[in-house]
Amino acid sequence: MRKSAVILFFILFIFAAYSFNKERLREIYSRPSSRWPKPNVAEGVQWTELSMLPQSPIEHLKDSLKDKIELGKALFFDARLSSSDKISCASCHLPEKNWTDGKENSTGHEGALTKRNAPTIANSWVYHKLFWDGRASSLQDQAFSPIVSESEMNSEMPDLMIKLRKIKGYREMFKKVYGDERINPDRLTDAIAVFEQTVTSAKSRFDRFLEGDKTALSDQELKGLHLFRTKAGCMNCHSGPLFTDNQFHNIGFSGTDEGYYKVTHREEDMGKFKTPSLRDVMHTGPWMHDGKHTNMKAIINQLIKTKSEGAISSLLKPINLKNREKQALIAFLNAISTPFENFEKPILPQ
Ligand code: HEC
Ligand code: HEC
Repeated sequence: MRKSAVILFFILFIFAAYSFNKERLREIYSRPSSRWPKPNVAEGVQWTELSMLPQSPIEHLKDSLKDKIELGKALFFDARLSSSDKISCASCHLPEKNWTDGKENSTGHEGALTKRNAPTIANSWVYHKLFWDGRASSLQDQAFSPIVSESEMNSEMPDLMIKLRKIKGYREMFKKVYGDERINPDRLTDAIAVFEQTVTSAKSRFDRFLEGDKTALSDQELKGLHLFRTKAGCMNCHSGPLFTDNQFHNIGFSGTDEGYYKVTHREEDMGKFKTPSLRDVMHTGPWMHDGKHTNMKAIINQLIKTKSEGAISSLLKPINLKNREKQALIAFLNAISTPFENFEKPILPQ
């Protein structure tokens, strides 16, 4: 009898300690983020605290840019930008797939496959450099590449200009936006880039938690947030409101792709890729620059066992995470991911 009372007491004690911990974590993270526990980041790492989803940088200009946004949107969805009239930007960046195509590699002109995985264009205005290897320095600069790439849209710019000038609706739209009917590559890519800056993630449960809805995150998700910032070391690279440091790192997933080295030709950049934002990440798989990773648990397993040796970042070191801690991390990634809701596709000018 006494023995079972001791066991019962012990079970109650464990349960009480466990729920105390959960309550404590909720209490700590309900404070303003300036009073959150310090994240585990290595010395010298520039980091910013995780925070609310920022507005699009042109949010306050949306009214005055209305016509340009509309033009850019039409161009983004218009397959006539390709030589075959079959491929638009949206063929590989589909709104309903959170602006990716959900494939390992994308299919471009006449079935050609791209070498890398198509990232989402949501929030892409945050990056100082575009593409996995940072080879474009602005959205406008970036938009030029797929149009003329033989494996993507395969157009010749001069021919494309002639083709677009024949479309009355476009002549009118360009005139409305730029004051005259001239259609040139500069205006074309400018309008697309402006449209892209309106594409952002939706507000996630994490944002609602930060706004003050303390029930928006479950206990498991809160634990995941805490692990992400501390023991798991993710904040060394994925920090700030969009979970990216805007830097390039080799995290051991590079395979044969030289990544950033192709752009800088500096030995230390071998196999480095841009730190992608993690907003909506649970809906933008398959993951990594090569799109070869389809299982988030396997990604985390690989990340936490990677040693920094050779070209691999000194920011990575093996971390021991229990199975339920990995589950909590994934739960947190779900809490910063919002599925596609609704997007009104444009009616194309004729
Ligand atoms: C055939 C598929 C395909 C088409 C068509 C295509 N893209 Fe992409 N897009 C990709 C792939 C693949 C990448 C990544 C390539 C890399 O990083 O080397 C990419 C990268 C991007 C990025 C960089 C995002 C980041 O995080 O750095 C932006 C922005 C983008 N595309 C916009 C566009 C626009 C605008 C168009 C139309 C003018 C377009 N794409 C057409 C497949 C495509
Ligand atoms: C040293 C910097 C660094 C650290 C630390 C780091 N990451 Fe990353 N992460 C990156 C880079 C760079 C990539 C892109 C690599 C590639 O494509 O080869 C990436 C890619 C990812 C992706 C795939 C995203 C996509 O859109 O394909 C996920 C998911 C991810 N990281 C989660 C995490 C988590 C969770 C942690 C903590 C356990 C973490 N990362 C720690 C730099 C880092």
